[in-house]
Amino acid sequence: MLAKVVEGRKVGRTLGFPTANLEFLNPDEMPESGVYAVDVNLRDEMLRGVLNVGNRPTFGASEKVAEVHILDFARDIYDENLDITIRKFIRKERTFETSEALKKQIEQDREEARK
Ligand SMILES: Cc1cc2nc3c(=O)[nH]c(=O)nc-3n(C[C@H](O)[C@H](O)[C@H](O)COP(=O)(O)O)c2cc1C
Repeated sequence: MLAKVVEGRKVGRTLGFPTANLEFLNPDEMPESGVYAVDVNLRDEMLRGVLNVGNRPTFGASEKVAEVHILDFARDIYDENLDITIRKFIRKERTFETSEALKKQIEQDREEARK
């Protein structure tokens, strides 16, 4: 699935999980809502990440969006094209009571993706 990195709301950074917001070249390829372990190919560099697809109900539902947090990665990739391959479905998207609870869950998602 080819996707371009576009500007997001940048709340992810305050959660401690920078995410790249994605625009799929073919919108029909947008996966079902959920959290997935993925491989990310960035200019032939193979990276791993966790992909979230959904409307982020914890922060007041928005339209359905896709965003990826790349493991051990801190570069600015705005405007880059990514080739994303889904490796595993981790869980459904949920509403969390607090952003702290969501943060703990994303830490677990990240561990799941490392396996
Ligand atoms: C691995 C991962 C899992 C996520 N799971 C959820 C979730 O279950 N529920 C939810 O409301 N948001 C979830 N989010 C979305 C966060 O709410 C989102 O990253 C945050 O709002 C920052 O958005 P921004 O990058 O546009 O600033 C998840 C994000 C990631 C990266």
